[in-house]
Amino acid sequence: MNRLFWMGALILINGLVISGLAASHESRDAAAQPDIEQGRDLYRIHCLECHGTEGRGDGPRAALLAPRPGNLVSAATSTKTDEELLEILAKGVPRTAMRGWSDQLSVDQRRNVLAYVRTLVHFQDPPSPPLPSPGP
Ligand code: HEC
Repeated sequence: MNRLFWMGALILINGLVISGLAASHESRDAAAQPDIEQGRDLYRIHCLECHGTEGRGDGPRAALLAPRPGNLVSAATSTKTDEELLEILAKGVPRTAMRGWSDQLSVDQRRNVLAYVRTLVHFQDPPSPPLPSPGP
């Protein structure tokens, strides 16, 4: 009787632990997938006026600012890691018009904006024809 009880309890606890693990795994997956559409909307509301529609740093307010807003699709910016850019998004760039956004945008919103900015970077095939392949 006692043994049956403990076996039952053990099975129950196991079930709880496993379903708990599954749930936390799911939520982690959901968090790992950025919401690019939300990022685009946030970008248009908060960033476009300085960084421009395409992220080139040519928004309507850009000409009035010194230093000018960064070109977000430049190599200098796009080769930065997510961690570096998220840090900039949270804290801003000192002595520029780029303020920190941590008071206005949540961590997830900042990640979504960054995910959207990453979609603005396009790779193109080189315009020149490919080199002739070496003969046999
Ligand atoms: C008031 C104008 C302004 C607004 C609004 C603004 N920025 Fe900036 N941003 C700047 C300026 C100025 C810089 C500094 C120049 C630089 O880093 O080249 C900058 C720098 C940055 C950088 C750093 C680039 C680098 O390579 O270090 C990132 C990333 C960035 N902004 C993203 C954003 C995002 C995303 C938003 C919207 C949430 C935003 N900015 C809103 C003006 C602005």
